[in-house]
Amino acid sequence: MNYRDEYRRSIDAKEDFWEEKSKDLPWLKEPTKMLTVGADGSPSWFDGGFLNTCYACLDHHVDAGRGDQDALIYDSPVSNTIETYSFSELRDRVARVAGSLKKLGVTQGAVVIIYMPMIPEAVISMLACARIGAIHSVVFGGFAPEELCLRIDDAKPEVILSASCGIEFEKIIPYQPLIREALRLAKHQPKAVVIKSRKEIPAPDLGSTELDWDLWEADSVPVDCVALPASHPLYILYTSGTTGKPKGIVRDNGGHAVALKYSMKAVYDVQEGDVFWAASDVGWVVGHSYIVYGPLLAGCTTVLYEGKPVKTPDAGAFWRVISQHRVKVFFVAPTAIRAIRKEDSQGKLIEPYDISTLESQFVAGERLDPATYRWLVQHLKIPVIDHWWQTETGWPVCSSFPGMQELDTREGSCGKPCPGWDVMALDEEGTIVDPGEEGSLVFGSPLPPGALLTVWGDEKRFHDSYWKRFPGFYLTGDSGFLDSDGFVYVMGRTDDVINVAGHRLSTGRMEEVLAADSAVAECAVVGKKDPEKGEIPVGFVILNLGFNTKEEEVVKSLVKLMRESVGAFANFKLVFFVEKLPKTRSGKILRRLLRSMIEKESYSIPSTIEDPGVIKHIETVLSQSAP
Ligand code: COA
Ligand code: AMP
Repeated sequence: MNYRDEYRRSIDAKEDFWEEKSKDLPWLKEPTKMLTVGADGSPSWFDGGFLNTCYACLDHHVDAGRGDQDALIYDSPVSNTIETYSFSELRDRVARVAGSLKKLGVTQGAVVIIYMPMIPEAVISMLACARIGAIHSVVFGGFAPEELCLRIDDAKPEVILSASCGIEFEKIIPYQPLIREALRLAKHQPKAVVIKSRKEIPAPDLGSTELDWDLWEADSVPVDCVALPASHPLYILYTSGTTGKPKGIVRDNGGHAVALKYSMKAVYDVQEGDVFWAASDVGWVVGHSYIVYGPLLAGCTTVLYEGKPVKTPDAGAFWRVISQHRVKVFFVAPTAIRAIRKEDSQGKLIEPYDISTLESQFVAGERLDPATYRWLVQHLKIPVIDHWWQTETGWPVCSSFPGMQELDTREGSCGKPCPGWDVMALDEEGTIVDPGEEGSLVFGSPLPPGALLTVWGDEKRFHDSYWKRFPGFYLTGDSGFLDSDGFVYVMGRTDDVINVAGHRLSTGRMEEVLAADSAVAECAVVGKKDPEKGEIPVGFVILNLGFNTKEEEVVKSLVKLMRESVGAFANFKLVFFVEKLPKTRSGKILRRLLRSMIEKESYSIPSTIEDPGVIKHIETVLSQSAP
């Protein structure tokens, strides 16, 4: 494979290109038409084709004689557990759980929410849904009840699959009260909540619609894979948009499987038997694509790590996992490496481990800062590859390509476009800008296989969010530029989305949470650069008149509220009390201006500002509160 030829063909001869890639999958019925573009321009890939993603991930490898090969290694320093599942073992458990779901009445097209920590049952649940054509929606275990409730009411699951607890360092987080609270708040009620008991909370007290996972799984008739049309939804994954309501990104079975299988070879350069480790969470897209589906589709062994980069037990944890499980390719968010670097700046904790199996290190989820890049290069001495993607894209949009011997990188760039992605930077008028000039990063239409199909239950939002700003082009929400050699540089979001420790969060949602507090008259939340987390949210709050509680007390209560409403991982800790917010004459808060002021960057005062005097006031507040 040669990158230049692959890329050109993927743009100039899309259908032939993806037809060739689709042949790598065990279709139950081959597609008859590679690409159909609808009247509204949206693509449907592999029409006429039938497949089952669970079959392609598990049964296919068993049928091909690889049943005894390791499929999943569960490595959990927080529970002192290491378990390995072969493809046959994983297939058998998935078939049983699929049978149990069926017994509960879950049929093809029904939605199942999975709210779980990083335990094998999370992966098993996803694959079991795929096996019977149910649509899973995994909710990150760090989300608080209100966020879970938003997703329950939007996705309307028939069943929720969960566990008795998660483990955060030494802290045990019982999940059952969180689910009960979410269901108390929710309008929609599922038929059942199935709870996997963990040894840390072995026997939760079960209510009338709550079932014990082990009994439920044991009382099952294993079921086979159903044949699904390529366009049948595989999953919904919620992500933050500009409003408080999360967007349910919908992904299909066919395009997703073809794109992920292709990426495993072309981007990551792994094949059957190789060990692949993405140190993310199944609640995020990286977890879906590269803990679960991608590696299993490619017949790799995947690592499911329930731990942190540090303190479980130390900053050598990642290197221990790589050495113990002979990981070939490792994928992680830069924030995790920054956490390690902070505790082990000299890389001393790498030395005890033989990490010679590691051939490449991929990073994504946020901008790779130069210091982290250099630290990785210096200590790992292998290619360190920044690659850019989004929940919506499902697989990388830009990267370097060990699988195509294209390893050229530029500091600050996330590489060149992956085959299939037509990446451009546009100015305000929608004209392509010159190399080196920053603009809105967009993709030409049609998007390649694997990209989102729609927003669950809200086609209008799908069009308004992604296709309205520049008709014919998908709006990424990131700004950046391409250089004259075609390298892409992502500079940051253009909307009200921030990236906190690799977690994508909506400032709009955080503003809704703050505004609900009785102390708050008005507020704005913006992102502030942070050396460890990348960005952290900062609240600007106008207190209600006559509200006399001490400011420290208000901060405490707002921080608590945010932890209980969104989750602790939002890292909301910083609040500035102001008397006025900068607004345009039409009443829109000038968040970009607030961001520049916090960063002490130079800024020009917008001509649309309602009251220029507010600038001096905010400057004074910031200078008085400076740490
Ligand atoms: N369940 C409950 N609480 C959680 C949680 C979870 N799944 N994940 C995080 N939290 C809590 C933490 O315990 C912490 O709580 P505290 O304030 O009481 O101490 C708080 O949220 C902050 O979390 P975070 O900022 O994530 O820090 P951390 O030390 O827990 O983890 C990293 C650091 C780097 C491991 C983590 O941020 C991470 O994995 N980020 C990458 C995310 C990712 O993979 N993104 C996808 C793109 S690759
Ligand atoms: P998510 O949908 O949670 O995966 O977040 C996607 C967003 O994370 C992108 O729109 C970017 O803003 C950011 N992002 C992801 N990968 C990178 C990267 N390699 N470089 C810069 N930003 C990134």
